[in-house]
Amino acid sequence: MAKTAKNPLKITDLTFRDGHQSLFATRMRTEDIEAIAEAAGKAGYHAMEVWGGATYDTMHRFLGEDPWKRPKILRNYVPKKVKFQMLLRGQNLVGYRNYADDVAVAFVDEACEAGVEIFRIFDALNDERNFETAAKAVKKNKMHFQAALSYTVIGNKMGGEIFTKDYWVKKAKIFAQMGADSICIKDMAGLLSPDDAFELITALKKAVKLPIELHCHTTSGMAEYTFLKAIEAGVDILDTCSAPFANRTSHPAVEPIVAMLRGTERDTGIDFKKLEEISDYLESIAPKYKHLLDDTRLAVVDIGVLSHQVPGGMLSNLVNQLRQAGAEDKLSMVFEELPRVRKDLGFPPLVTPTSQIVGVQAVQNVLFGAPGSIEKRYKMISAQVKDYCYGLYGQPPGEVNEELRSLALKGYPRGEKPITCRPADILEPELAKAKEEIGDLAKDKKDLLLYTLFPTTGKKFLAVREGREAAPAEWKARTLEDAKREDELVKKAKAGLLVEKKDPPKVGANARTYQVYVEGEHFEVAVEGDNLGAPIITSVVPSAAPAPAAAPVAAPVAAAPKAAPAKAPAKPVASAPAGAGTLSAPMPGLIVDYRVKVGDVVKAGDVVVILEAMKMENSLEAPASGTVTEIFYKKGDTVSKDAALLAIA
Ligand code: CO
Repeated sequence: MAKTAKNPLKITDLTFRDGHQSLFATRMRTEDIEAIAEAAGKAGYHAMEVWGGATYDTMHRFLGEDPWKRPKILRNYVPKKVKFQMLLRGQNLVGYRNYADDVAVAFVDEACEAGVEIFRIFDALNDERNFETAAKAVKKNKMHFQAALSYTVIGNKMGGEIFTKDYWVKKAKIFAQMGADSICIKDMAGLLSPDDAFELITALKKAVKLPIELHCHTTSGMAEYTFLKAIEAGVDILDTCSAPFANRTSHPAVEPIVAMLRGTERDTGIDFKKLEEISDYLESIAPKYKHLLDDTRLAVVDIGVLSHQVPGGMLSNLVNQLRQAGAEDKLSMVFEELPRVRKDLGFPPLVTPTSQIVGVQAVQNVLFGAPGSIEKRYKMISAQVKDYCYGLYGQPPGEVNEELRSLALKGYPRGEKPITCRPADILEPELAKAKEEIGDLAKDKKDLLLYTLFPTTGKKFLAVREGREAAPAEWKARTLEDAKREDELVKKAKAGLLVEKKDPPKVGANARTYQVYVEGEHFEVAVEGDNLGAPIITSVVPSAAPAPAAAPVAAPVAAAPKAAPAKAPAKPVASAPAGAGTLSAPMPGLIVDYRVKVGDVVKAGDVVVILEAMKMENSLEAPASGTVTEIFYKKGDTVSKDAALLAIA
């Protein structure tokens, strides 16, 4: 190892959080991290980020893993001096709305117990009031409170009317007063230019006597240059990933930085041999996850984000959403609408959850609205935009369009006059009520929090764990053998060797089904036994089905309902009566609630169904007055576009 440098640059490794979140839809399983955790723990990193909102969500929703267990398991391999970090969305915790204080405190307490030591806390609106409760809880637990600035620009440079250098410095000073132990510049889409980074870091280091950490995504291709200038400005810590999980929408690779700084006064002291070991290992398991990588384009640099500021991850979300709504051709309209929506909402930085709120609303304006006035454009306003306009997410950096605000708050249940206080001040405690709802399915506080934060999917996870429900097929891990077999099937399909049987034999219990995608065509293939012969195609879905990469790549922020193409439930999607009295899903989604039951009398315009699409909840109204005669789905079902949801006669 290199002898200690004068001012060694510290490295936080993001491979096991933001790395696979950015590139592989957060799908990495604990067992795959476990296998390399010891090497990572000995490489010489300052900290390892291993947990966050998307990890928490994906683990219980898609992997069938208890999210609370991961840090504890990894701690068995990683020496104590390497701190475990998590990304916490302020009062949104690991979810998509502001939670009550009792939930925030309990969550931080339990996260500390689970092994999180550095809490990187951010708020999508940079509203410091949303840090208060979580920060206090972190300090009470004697853990590290890192306050993150959700970096954004209007145009492409620091400055302008809102996001000036002074804006950021002022925020950092407030965070320091709140007890922050360090400050992070969190550059979600790689919009921080090298010169701006130099200027900003210099100013921050002068204004607050705290370590400064820089988090830049490589989306735009600027991050490595920005890092170099940040190092010159004396940045204390940089965020990187192991090479196989670096670049594209992820982060700069650690290896070139370590090599570049060798022998200088900022030498990282990191063991390159260990880095090679980690990289080799990740390459070896890559086949399990490679299908999730969006490699449809040649460019690893997303030039779009340099012009329209829509990061690739969000873009694939939007494309996916439009595709599922059969309106892919409207993408350019969404691009035009997106900055307008952002402006209407007072220029929120685009990061979870505001990126979804703005993105989905832009899509909805294009799909259901018409160009022109606020009233024309905002025909369907998501529940989240209503909450936002009410002030439930906090104070936006700029001014909210008042016309939009009054439209959004018309008939809003909490009142038509927006609040100006700290959002959580008006939120009733939630845990007691959640405990009552979930009952003995929640065995401890961690279970209760999982349910409180994710009522639908959290409950499902607990029910499966307790043996009350069967585990969904998608929870099953994809093995290296599966990947190999799929590759072989693709080869066979290309050679025309797959046989489609009109009347296939009954598929045995031991058969594994594979989703095979060949040049836009999707096959579901059942394989049974070892003597394969010609595999039998059980279904062929035309190329309109989402490509395998599309939904999962979108998934860190995307909707759960990426209805598996060939596994559409045998529900009356097409056969349902499509009359004036039938409410159809305007977009694919997850049914959060039916507000009516069969026999109820409704008026046209009454809210009858709550549909979650891309994590945004939408109120669907009765298309006609009458009596509800049939309800075709139940709470928690995923539905495709145009699926009949209920009938009114
Ligand atoms: Co990030």
